[in-house]
This record gives sequence, structure tokens and C-alpha cells, in this order.
Amino acid sequence: MKLIKAATPAEAGKLAADIFEEIIRKNPACVLGLATGSTPLPLYRELIEREKAGKINFAQVRSANLDEYKGLSGDHPQSYRYFMQENLFNHISIDPANTIVPDGLAEDAEAMCADYEKKIADMGGVDIQLLGIGHDGHIGFNEPCDHFPAVTHEVELEEITREANKRFFASLDEVPTAAYTMGVGTVMAARKVLLIATGKDKAEIVKKSFFGPVKPEVPASILQFHPDVTVIVDEAAASLLD
Ligand code: F6R
Repeated sequence: MKLIKAATPAEAGKLAADIFEEIIRKNPACVLGLATGSTPLPLYRELIEREKAGKINFAQVRSANLDEYKGLSGDHPQSYRYFMQENLFNHISIDPANTIVPDGLAEDAEAMCADYEKKIADMGGVDIQLLGIGHDGHIGFNEPCDHFPAVTHEVELEEITREANKRFFASLDEVPTAAYTMGVGTVMAARKVLLIATGKDKAEIVKKSFFGPVKPEVPASILQFHPDVTVIVDEAAASLLD
């Protein structure tokens, strides 16, 4: 594991963008595994700027997102598809047809999840998987449980996660109770993993995940076993590390 300390979330975004830039330059048709939430925003802003400045080009890049709320359509303002359009895809040259996000409105959840895995495999797998981390150690929507889920699947959301995400909705009642997420196995199959953690509220889970025992009760801890994982933390998130 490579641990990189940044002074601020903005610097963490720049350092993450350096890693993305290198991968896109090496392989202009690479497959990016993308995340939503507050953490990747500085990175996405930086990537938009770098394409505008002619440093990178997304025309051939493909992407697969980690997760989506069950029951929300792609044009619902709180859906993760909408988030990606607003915060990245609408501002870069990526072909929308080359971006996949689990279908929140799928009638047959199991078939959609199996198909999502197949689509990732058909793309040739993920070159770099971007992750944030939940306060309970979740990655994607893989919540603490008694095993590491292997593939894309439906999950019931923990109250702590619904509470954390309610800031984007009018009330807690509107936060969906279920979601679709890549499995921990899907994440571990990415050739490279880049996790960003920023803010003091992430300090404890960063310590537990990367310097504690590997166990499914702390889903992110499995990343200790990934052969190519980079963790970028800002000063606040690193504050409990020695
Ligand atoms: C988002 C995702 C989640 C978030 C995590 C942290 O696609 O999969 O695991 O990365 O909940 O969220 P933020 O970045 O908002 O603190």
C-alpha cells in the first residue's frame, strides 16, 4: 500500500488527478472505475480543468461507476448517474455511451447486476478504481457484514449511511433504503485502486481500515491485500496515524 499525505482536500484532488492523468495518457481508452460523494469533487474539478488545458483527453475513455440508489432514475437529481453527469461527464469529452452506472430502475435486479459485471468484463476490466470511504468503512455501498460480497449486488443501506447521505435529500424519509453496488470482489479485481479520504471525521476509519485487522466488519480493510493500492489522505484524515 502506498500512503500519500496531502495538506488539503484540494491538494489531494491534484495528486489523484496526477495518477489519473498518467493512466489516461498511457492508455487513452482506459477504463475508469468512478465514485460519487463529496470526496472525489476536487479530483473531478481538476480533471475538467486538465482536459480544458489540453493535458488529457477523455474522448476514448470508458467508465464504470461503483453504485446507484435503487428506485432512482438517472435523471433524478439525487441519483448517482445525475451526479456524474453534473460533476464530470457533462464537462469532458467522454462519450456518454461509454459510461456505465448500475440501473436504479431495473425490473430484474439480479439480471441487471449480472449484466453489470459482464459489461465490466467486456470492457476488459477496470484500470483504476477510485474510492471514497464511509464512516463505517464501507466502499461503494458494501456495508460492514460477516463476509466480503464478491460481485455487483443489491444492498440494504445502514442507518448510519442513510443519515450521512440525507444532506442531499429533503429529509431522511426520502433517502432510498436500498442500492446497487459493485462487490468488494469487483473492486479488488481492478488493476489499480485509489482511495481518497479527507476530513477529520474520516481519521478513525482510515486508521482502522489500513492499520487494523482485515475483516468484513471493516470492508475497506480488504484493500490491504490489493497488490496496487494508493491511499491519499489530507492532514485531517491522517491525524490519527503515527
Ligand atoms: C460513492 C460511494 C461511497 C462514498 C462514501 C464516502 O459512490 O461509493 O462509498 O465513497 O460514502 O462518501 P463521501 O465522499 O461523501 O464522504
